[in-house]
Amino acid sequence: MSLLTLAPGLTYYPDYLDRPAQERLLQALREITKAAPLFTPRMPRTGKPFSVRMTNCGRLGWVSDVQGYRYQPTHPETGGPWPPMPEQVLRAWEALSGYPHPPDACLINFYEPTARMGLHQDKDEDAFDAPVVSLSLGDTALFRYGGVERKDPTRSVRLRSGDAIVFGGPARLIHHGVDRVMPGSSDLLPQAGRLNLTLRKVEKPL
Ligand code: SIN
Ligand code: MN
Repeated sequence: MSLLTLAPGLTYYPDYLDRPAQERLLQALREITKAAPLFTPRMPRTGKPFSVRMTNCGRLGWVSDVQGYRYQPTHPETGGPWPPMPEQVLRAWEALSGYPHPPDACLINFYEPTARMGLHQDKDEDAFDAPVVSLSLGDTALFRYGGVERKDPTRSVRLRSGDAIVFGGPARLIHHGVDRVMPGSSDLLPQAGRLNLTLRKVEKPL
């Protein structure tokens, strides 16, 4: 497994999942979206739609609507529980997180070719001692990351299908986002677009 330290606490694992593993994960995500369809999150207060669509698996899922950002145990449209995390996702967490407890949440973002995600911090969790583990599938994304302060300088890295990135320790609260997706850069998905999974521990372990 090759890895590259991009900043203290920020580790990049190019080609973490080989092609057969990517195909298995894609199949698992198809099953998940049958039970928990992609929904369009909205910005707190304004209700402006995000350009990504999302769903979750695991005990808790991250949602956003006019009332705010939060984790909840049910899908906002179906009202049903989130599907369980696939074994493969749990194995990636065990291999990459260095954290002794399983993740509570796995957010699944789907980017159409024009979707993007503004610079933000992942800070709706109570457990910042656990890292965030991210897995990418499909088209390449230009992923931007900076520091803990919004004004800190930023750099970018191209996240390709199968790549993993982990941010923990001094990088747990870095700003990050996706400037753009490069349509047609991968043939994993039948259509252009990108899937990203972010695995998180939400609640402090007992
Ligand atoms: C996120 O920060 O929620 C997603 C990041 C990504 O799509 O790589
Ligand atoms: Mn994030």
